[in-house]
Amino acid sequence: MSVTLSVTLAATADPRTTPDSPSTFKAAVASLRTLLADDLEAVNRQILERMDSPVDLIPDLAGHLINSGGKRIRPMLTLATARLFGFDGDEHIKLAAAVELIHGATLLHDDVVDASSLRRGAETANTIWGNKESVLVGDFIFSRAFELMVAAKNLGVLQVLSRASGIIAEGEVLQLATQKNIGATFEMYLAVVEAKTAALFAGATQSGALIAGAHEDTEAALKSYGRNLGIAYQLIDDALDYAGFEADLGKTIGDDFREGKMTLPVVYAVARAKPNEQSFWRRVIAEGRQEAGDFERACELMLRDNAIADTVVCARRFADHAMVDLLKAPENQYSAALAELVITSVSRAS
Ligand code: IPE
Ligand code: IPE
Ligand code: MG
Ligand code: MG
Repeated sequence: MSVTLSVTLAATADPRTTPDSPSTFKAAVASLRTLLADDLEAVNRQILERMDSPVDLIPDLAGHLINSGGKRIRPMLTLATARLFGFDGDEHIKLAAAVELIHGATLLHDDVVDASSLRRGAETANTIWGNKESVLVGDFIFSRAFELMVAAKNLGVLQVLSRASGIIAEGEVLQLATQKNIGATFEMYLAVVEAKTAALFAGATQSGALIAGAHEDTEAALKSYGRNLGIAYQLIDDALDYAGFEADLGKTIGDDFREGKMTLPVVYAVARAKPNEQSFWRRVIAEGRQEAGDFERACELMLRDNAIADTVVCARRFADHAMVDLLKAPENQYSAALAELVITSVSRAS
């Protein structure tokens, strides 16, 4: 079933990609990585330095997550945004490292909350070391992120990123509260996504603009770009939790279904279910009583009712808003790379 759903996802590739531009999200990420190579190396050095601790478990567990890879999208957003406005200092390195550390800490916590066993193509830290260990090392990483933000000596940035950290936690708690609620609406889903994902994307771009001293209108536009990209990114992630492939994503498919998450594919599928199918969704999501074959059945219903395809359509709307936001930014190689990132993000498979 995943194969058919993935074809649906691929068929919605954005027609605006030109022959000259990276046609895949992977290529767009690689272009950004090339453009920001020196900065990114400095960010990785900062991250590794900050993981150091005489308590061995800390560098072991944190190093496992950090060395498993990760696309580094959020720190690249900070770096690219700062460079976009011509910044030539080095505080953006600390900020970008702080942003990735906040992301890393939330992933450690998130994998405990979601009982996930695969992350970045490797066993999750909670599977290897345990839940308590993951939560506590996550807390340690958060505190290191805050040290880095303070070291950047910019109160505005400190305010933006500390606020984003709090909002992420609110989003994760809000998601717990809507879990298994088959009456959840699009608005409730969007509130979760804005908080748990878009807030950090927005914080990443806004802090880059702030440190570079961008005019407040353009700073707001870049913040909005980050928010819209973040929403589109999470929407696709939620589609891929049904329609993707484990080997591409480095994460287990079906985690959201197993946990009864009211992501947009489920919100659409429940709303479009025939009366005699309502009991299926109640059993598997609201009551959490799942049997062999239920995930495949859910995928079949989603395919029939365009629940995945319309999730992608919705992601594309937010991506379009992000493109409009970028019109307010200076035109250069960084804004071009940020445009490619958003265009290709809605047809990504990994
Ligand atoms: C995973 O983020 C969490 C989501 C918001 C979906 P990424 O897809 O950026 O994960 P890494 O950092 O590349 O592993
Ligand atoms: C990712 O959320 C964690 C945050 C954005 C805080 P998800 O639970 O939806 O993402 P994955 O699938 O575990 O990466
Ligand atoms: Mg998760
Ligand atoms: Mg989660």
